[in-house]
Amino acid sequence: MFNRLLSYLMPINVYRKNSVISKSIEVNWNNGELVLDSKNTNYSYGSLQRILRIGLKKIGFDNIRAMESILVLGVGGGSVIKTLVHEIKFKGKIIGIEIDPEVHQIAKTYFDLDKISNLTVIIDNAFEFVLKTKEHYDLIIVDIFEDTHMPNFLYEDFFMHRMGELLTNNGSILFNTMLLNEKENQRNVKYLREFNVSPYQVCTVPRVEEHNELIIITKAATASS
Ligand SMILES: C[S@@+](CC[C@H](N)C(=O)[O-])C[C@H]1O[C@@H](n2cnc3c(N)ncnc32)[C@H](O)[C@@H]1O
Repeated sequence: MFNRLLSYLMPINVYRKNSVISKSIEVNWNNGELVLDSKNTNYSYGSLQRILRIGLKKIGFDNIRAMESILVLGVGGGSVIKTLVHEIKFKGKIIGIEIDPEVHQIAKTYFDLDKISNLTVIIDNAFEFVLKTKEHYDLIIVDIFEDTHMPNFLYEDFFMHRMGELLTNNGSILFNTMLLNEKENQRNVKYLREFNVSPYQVCTVPRVEEHNELIIITKAATASS
């Protein structure tokens, strides 16, 4: 309680560990909220949760509630999963993929992620999981960061098309990207151009919270899944 109040004046650290993937993993009280941060950015809860909530609103809370299965690539502390379950009241199946077992342990210890009964978390590299899964998903949320860096595979044609194949008809991809320089801006422009062909429709929510751009891709109902 004391840490929570004090965190309105300054961030209070409650856990920190070095990490090969994220440089460091930290649990901090910030503005009265417990958040998960990497060395240079917010990973879960706080601004990250607000960003993804905007994307989910754009897809439509009612549409999401009617879905059967959602794939979350990059579970972190699980804030988008809390939005899906507690705010949207999504009752279907959620599969979460997280590469870092330490992050998942923190998600359970500090953020009670193991109390979500319709969630299954698999510790795996999202790239490999996407190649081998045989399931189809109504919504794929892509939120993969190594600190502020987005791994290159996210922008590879092969990965993009494989994600498209995994979508059900009318399904959507919500892709959270971070743009820190002109090269990264251009990478998104190219991505949008390449995905904006039938059966897909693309739209963006630009400059959410300064550096983030959300990309939403929807697969038309006429395509076979
Ligand atoms: C911004 S956090 C995810 C936050 C989460 N979506 C939420 O709503 O709270 C990014 C996560 O991506 C994970 N990650 C990085 N590379 C990955 C990969 N190749 N496969 C799966 N997860 C990865 C990181 O360990 C980190 O937990």
